[in-house]
Amino acid sequence: MRIPIIAGNWKMHKTVEETKNFWDTVKNWQKPSGVEAVICAPFTALPALADAARNSEIGVGAQNVHWEREGAFTGEISPVMLKQLGVGYCIIGHSERRAYFAETDEAVNKKAKALFDVDIVPIVCVGEQLEERENDETKKVVKRQVTQALDGLRSRDVKRLVVAYEPVWAIGTGKTATAEDANDVIAYIRKVIADLYDQQVANEVRIQYGGSVKPDNVERFMAQPDIDGALVGGASLDPASFRALVEGG
Ligand code: G3P
Repeated sequence: MRIPIIAGNWKMHKTVEETKNFWDTVKNWQKPSGVEAVICAPFTALPALADAARNSEIGVGAQNVHWEREGAFTGEISPVMLKQLGVGYCIIGHSERRAYFAETDEAVNKKAKALFDVDIVPIVCVGEQLEERENDETKKVVKRQVTQALDGLRSRDVKRLVVAYEPVWAIGTGKTATAEDANDVIAYIRKVIADLYDQQVANEVRIQYGGSVKPDNVERFMAQPDIDGALVGGASLDPASFRALVEGG
């Protein structure tokens, strides 16, 4: 039985002060059991957030990482640095990083391996562009992204992985995939993983949907058999909305 995971991706939002204000609003909240909640904050907010959340039921994640433990990589953050902060998750391969920062499938694979090496759970983002969907290439795209992201990963690590299927055309647009379409692609992703490993491994991987998820539509996605949570941008920034998303999960 997969425990669903609702993760907020704050992207480039929230100063340290705003993060502390957010936390003050959720720190006494009783998260429902049976659903995992994670906040993926900007690097600058991670020390304060990870420290505040250390003994809470809310996990803390980063939004990117380099694959080397240290080195001449100006501006980058290493997996070891995240681990020392108490970070438990890390988004990799987000479409915005693929688009604006040339993050490749190869880099995603290196980052996934490096994160597992320090026991941080990767949240691997995959998803098609609108043109690719219109050309009926969605499954071809996500198969390539998943296959390359998982290249060389051990079964025991893949079982702990989180994959986020985020159709790029649904991110930040208010348009979502239908729950049925999202489930169809996510079930296909699970089949790709079963073919790469075996059905037992594929059954344990958690696969989220992301792209304009809100409190008023999250349950629609969570009701689908292959969807194990959501990766949420805009609607995760407000504490009440984040709580509602997790409660809907
Ligand atoms: O990583 C989640 C994000 O890309 C989705 O953004 O604002 O459409 O929920 P949003």
